Amino acid sequence: MNIDEATLKEIEELKQDCIVLSHNYQIPEIQDVADFIGDSLALCRAAQRVDKPYILFCGVDFMAESAAMLNPDKTVVMPDLEAHCPMAAQLPAKLVREAREEHPDAAVVLYINTRIEARAEADVICTSANAVNIVRAVPEKKVIFGPDANLAWHVQRHVREKKIIPIPERGHCITHLLFKPEHVERARREHPKAEVLIHPECTPEVQLLADHICSTEQMVKRAGESAAREFVIGTEVGLIYRLQKEFPAKRFYPLNERAVCRTMKMNTWEKFLLQLRERRNVVRIDPKVAERALRSLQRMLELSIRYQ
Ligand code: 13P
Ligand code: SF4
Repeated sequence: MNIDEATLKEIEELKQDCIVLSHNYQIPEIQDVADFIGDSLALCRAAQRVDKPYILFCGVDFMAESAAMLNPDKTVVMPDLEAHCPMAAQLPAKLVREAREEHPDAAVVLYINTRIEARAEADVICTSANAVNIVRAVPEKKVIFGPDANLAWHVQRHVREKKIIPIPERGHCITHLLFKPEHVERARREHPKAEVLIHPECTPEVQLLADHICSTEQMVKRAGESAAREFVIGTEVGLIYRLQKEFPAKRFYPLNERAVCRTMKMNTWEKFLLQLRERRNVVRIDPKVAERALRSLQRMLELSIRYQ
């Protein structure tokens, strides 16, 4: 979209002491002015390298909280503090403690899409990009994994030698549940030469029909490296904008154009500009919880260096 010259100039001035981090699902206007765009893992790594006193984080709560934990001396602001990922709310800390009591010999690996109180109970965190490798890396043969049961299924498919115990039993992302096998069948009829890239938050039935299972950043990488010229994208539609912009000679089709994450889209252009100017929506975390949650996040970052 066209951002007028005066606004662009103002944004550049406001960004002198503020870095803008954006998830791949953000609206095009935000992606266009962001300093960095990525998936949950890439955004954590970007947050480790921030050299400005403010971070305007355009994504959802668990992502901004990760950036805040990694930068206790900086101020993290969100366009909308109510942008809570609904999947993250499906796993209360109590459920993690109960699962640990029931399976004392199991490691607790939690998806980063989890509330901070529950993340404080984890041994290590993972993202969709590294879940398989993190589960492989922990020494335990049993792994309590939550909240996404579809990602747990994907991990179990690749790590046969371990037993994955999903908590809760049917945790899921409402946006990724919108993808159905018939969407893949239709896409293959309409675009027979296209590669089908599917996010591991999709159901097993949909994952089984994919050419590749990828995090959002891995989809960008695959689109760049593959000889294919067309791709069907099985994740939230916001990623299509970035893909089309980075690879204008290739074509990208949404697997289901209705797959819009309402929470991600709470970050409107108006709210973005307001917070870049005023910086009032500060992400605040209880320091005691943050200390424990940071440990599990740092363990992930240490382990995932091995799998760059
Ligand atoms: P990625 O880390 O793959 O971008 O996924 C984040 C997310 O919330 C997917 O719904
Ligand atoms: Fe949460 Fe799903 Fe939205 Fe990702 S797409 S932020 S998992 S609701």
